[in-house]
Amino acid sequence: MKQRIAAAEAWVKDFFVNDSTGHDWPHTDRVRKQAVHIAEKEGGDLELTELAALIHDVADDKFHETETEAIHYVHSGLEEFGFSNKEIRDVLNVVSTVSFKGGNNHPPQSLEGRIVQDADRLDAIGAIGIARCFMFAGNKGDKMYDPDILPRDQMTKEEYRCSGNTAINHFHEKLLKLKDMMHTDTARRIAAERHRFMESYLQQFYNEWESLK
Ligand code: ADP
Ligand code: NI
Repeated sequence: MKQRIAAAEAWVKDFFVNDSTGHDWPHTDRVRKQAVHIAEKEGGDLELTELAALIHDVADDKFHETETEAIHYVHSGLEEFGFSNKEIRDVLNVVSTVSFKGGNNHPPQSLEGRIVQDADRLDAIGAIGIARCFMFAGNKGDKMYDPDILPRDQMTKEEYRCSGNTAINHFHEKLLKLKDMMHTDTARRIAAERHRFMESYLQQFYNEWESLK
């Protein structure tokens, strides 16, 4: 297994070599390490968790034309490294609700899936999560902050379409909600600390912004 995981790792690394959307190799590597750490505390098959974490973004349909293509891509990649059909089916099952849009509203059915989702969500919060958020916004052409652009749930669809979005709004729309969406106690504990840091970061951000008025 170790050797096959190493081969899969090199393949994933290569997939994200030029990414600047916050899905670079270090993101996957952190999610993999965090997922293994959580699985050690919470139970769950360590190797399945590690492999699922490694492929969770490669299998994401946003990096492929369709979900079917995403599955095909991962299937043929893993097959080449010697994973059996059953192993590939199992790992795709684990990531299906993490990676595919269609599964976004359903919680993962397996413990390993819940762990990988927790690890992925943990990487969106705290100091690194903040950095990823600003990188993503910059890459998309969004502003860092604009007091006139309200979070999505406080605007009409039309207003939202015209105004665009900001990195700071993403905190309110998503990042500050993630701590209550964790599945495991281990992730909840890590999330609580990162959440407090984001709140204090936002406070400081608003203080500095206001102080120059
Ligand atoms: P995932 O890692 O689960 O695939 P996404 O693709 O939604 O997550 O997001 C990747 C990173 O970019 C995350 O850190 C996320 O918080 C951030 N991000 C996603 N959408 C936005 C946005 N509209 N503005 C700022 N940051 C965003
Ligand atoms: Ni991810």
